[in-house]
Amino acid sequence: MTKSTPGLSAIVLAAGMGMRMKSRLPKVLHPLCGRPLVDYPVTAAFEAGADQVVVVTSGQPELAQALEARYGKERIAIAVQDPPRGTGDAVRAGLGAVKNPRTLILYGDTPLLRAQDLTELLAALDVPGQDLSILTALLEAPFGYGRVLRDAAGAVIEIREHRDLRSDAERAIREVNAGMYAADTAKLRTAVAALQPNNAQGEYYLTDIVASLAKVSRVAAVIGDAEGLLGVNDRADLGRAEELLFARHREQHRKAGVTVHGDARIDSGVQIGEDAEIGAGVSLRGKTTIGPGARVDVGSVLVDAIIAANAEIKPYCVISQSSVGERAQLGPFAHLRPESVIEADAHIGNFVETKKTRVRRGAKANHLAYLGDTDVGERANVGAGTIICNYDGFVKRQTTIGEGAFIGSDSQLIAPVVIGKNAYVGTGTTVTEDVPDDALAIGRSRQVNKLGYAAKLREKLAAAKKR
Ligand code: UD1
Ligand code: CA
Repeated sequence: MTKSTPGLSAIVLAAGMGMRMKSRLPKVLHPLCGRPLVDYPVTAAFEAGADQVVVVTSGQPELAQALEARYGKERIAIAVQDPPRGTGDAVRAGLGAVKNPRTLILYGDTPLLRAQDLTELLAALDVPGQDLSILTALLEAPFGYGRVLRDAAGAVIEIREHRDLRSDAERAIREVNAGMYAADTAKLRTAVAALQPNNAQGEYYLTDIVASLAKVSRVAAVIGDAEGLLGVNDRADLGRAEELLFARHREQHRKAGVTVHGDARIDSGVQIGEDAEIGAGVSLRGKTTIGPGARVDVGSVLVDAIIAANAEIKPYCVISQSSVGERAQLGPFAHLRPESVIEADAHIGNFVETKKTRVRRGAKANHLAYLGDTDVGERANVGAGTIICNYDGFVKRQTTIGEGAFIGSDSQLIAPVVIGKNAYVGTGTTVTEDVPDDALAIGRSRQVNKLGYAAKLREKLAAAKKR
């Protein structure tokens, strides 16, 4: 993160619904790798040192609410542009709220923009006599973009929109306008106020400020990479942006000392410690944190999960809003539903589901169990097929299993119930009453052996079949 530069605002252009998304949700609120699209430029602006971001919208209330909730009303201003009459008109709307001497201009739908590009744009403004800097890119296929026109000495003199190009020579120019700018606010205000809609679309083009400012001072161009300029207009673009961003995240974590296999999908807010290993097909979402040396194996899906150091998540586990302690082992095929806490050295095996449950240090539930609203004591052992009956159709109730207790296989514990320390529940017991410390609870009917009866039964059945 860059040190906060005093006196910088950013205007993020996000007016229009984005009809090509074919959605009820405003385009810039569509999620991408765990965050809404508009978050990317807004976050990049704050990282580049802005202390105020003005978002230009078409007045959609859900957009204003989402932004204010996320960043706080003090740092976000909403400017409404209605109707949208071009990028120049949008900046004019945004400038009304700008309170700083320098302004960054970004688009709300370009999530691959990098904060380092903005840093370079801002640095260009530090040069005396440069009041505007623009981000450009060299494209193999520049069709549709505004082109950067330079004079014989290479100085930027104008940006001309694709449909306003005048010759094949101009159409062959590969340097395009990415649509990101940094400017001296006072100069920007003057240039924007003078814009006229004299062009093929009858719009106020922000790009026209380049020609007007180039006449009185120098316009700097920073050439960024083409990937950073990908704008999201439809769901195909959204898919492309997602692939690129996930690939970028995999590389970032690999550089930081994490082994990331294959196509693991790691959201933007996820943190991973050194020497952790992330399997192919894993999806790490939301605010998930993976501790150093932990392993998340093939196919697991983690949402807002906290995994401590050296824990092992075997293949195909699903974990939501839950935590797993150091060296604990989970899965394969375990399901931790919200508010599960699996402490250090505990084991949760295949086809075990937990919800609002704490499994304390060293406790085990290794096979086929449901643990809901339960506190499992240290080193307790929950046998295969154990079901906590926490819900009677009306109310959810609490179960406590004392430390060192042993719950025999195929038991049902009907909540609310307390199993004492080191108590023993016999296999196949339906527990309806508390079990004292060190007691044995057994609640099943006695077995009866009828000698020779199996043979008799077979004869009887064979005779019936012949008839
Ligand atoms: C713009 C640039 C073009 C550049 C291209 C890069 C202009 C005139 N042209 O073209 O040089 O190569 O971006 O992608 O600026 N917006 C508003 N209000 C409006 C119009 C647009 O807020 O009235 C916002 C949109 O939400 C969008 C952004 O501005 O985020 C860009 O608008 P768009 O219409 O896509 O610009 P282009 O025509 O692609
Ligand atoms: Ca566009």
